[in-house]
Amino acid sequence: MDQERMISGELMDEQESSEEVSLRPQRLHQYIGQEKLKKEISIYIKAAQNRQEALDHVLLYGPPGLGKTTMAMVIANEMGTSIRTTSGPAIDKAGDIVALLNDLEPGGILFIDEIHRLPRFVEEMLYSAMEDFYIDIIIGEGDTARPVHFSLPPFTLIGATTRAGLLSAPLRDRFGIVSHMAYYTVDSLSEIIYRTSNVLRAEIEEAGALEVAKRSRGTPRVANRLLKRVRDFAEVEADGLITEPVATEALNMLNVDKAGLDTVDQKILEVIIELYKGGPVGLNTLAANVGEDIDTIEDMVEPYLLQEGFIQRTPRGRVATEKAYRHLNLPFWESKGQ
Ligand code: ADE
Repeated sequence: MDQERMISGELMDEQESSEEVSLRPQRLHQYIGQEKLKKEISIYIKAAQNRQEALDHVLLYGPPGLGKTTMAMVIANEMGTSIRTTSGPAIDKAGDIVALLNDLEPGGILFIDEIHRLPRFVEEMLYSAMEDFYIDIIIGEGDTARPVHFSLPPFTLIGATTRAGLLSAPLRDRFGIVSHMAYYTVDSLSEIIYRTSNVLRAEIEEAGALEVAKRSRGTPRVANRLLKRVRDFAEVEADGLITEPVATEALNMLNVDKAGLDTVDQKILEVIIELYKGGPVGLNTLAANVGEDIDTIEDMVEPYLLQEGFIQRTPRGRVATEKAYRHLNLPFWESKGQ
């Protein structure tokens, strides 16, 4: 039995062990999944390095929790440069963006998370910064107002957003590299769960990792969170080893079902089906009924339900699919009055 146990350290690649200090992968070869994006980015990185230039600006878009921030840090490590991190809503003065850009080393990276929430005037300041590495601002007011010209070092802006559609076209067009982060496959998530188990020194069997992976909504952040709770359960309620039955029991206790849907997902399907006869239901109504704000539903909950085919978006609102009825063990045709 003991031989079947996968002790964290035993699975580790010796060369990597010194780098495995955090849950986040540091280099591209450690980053699991997103194969298409990794292939493309590695080409652009090599080309920029060969030309001794800053990497072109990168826009990463996709649902939350898929590793956009991690990817930005990995890119900085691969480029051998430093990275400053901020977020759209944190920048509310012209001086903020000038200070951030001015502080960068030549070829350095500025990472702006939630870039769709940048104030419009900051977005406009970025146009010349991104294109020609300068910013002109007006300092002072009234009679003492004067224009000041800042020349900036060549830099790379990496923007992350859950909604590329909310970016203005002029800003979007200034990113030379636009990459979509897709939901992870169950295989990739299993690998990530293994890797995290190594870092946490948790003992996990392959079937245990697979069970957690299947219920992680295609999202590494969810996988790592569930893994920690399953580990707690395994340590207290079993002998510490995360087997498939242990994972299943722990995940059931967490109300994460076989399809990875949690209480909020399930409630959304129930509201559409039971209160609104399968829909269509407007997003506002849905949000009010499940007690979440619209942004959370739109950014975090709905994309997975759409991708997995539990709901569909129509011009009049969201509708539940036959798959949703089957998932909740509810009759589909009767409810449609057919
Ligand atoms: N941890 C979280 N996301 C990861 C990924 N994509 N690769 C490796 N480890 C991760």
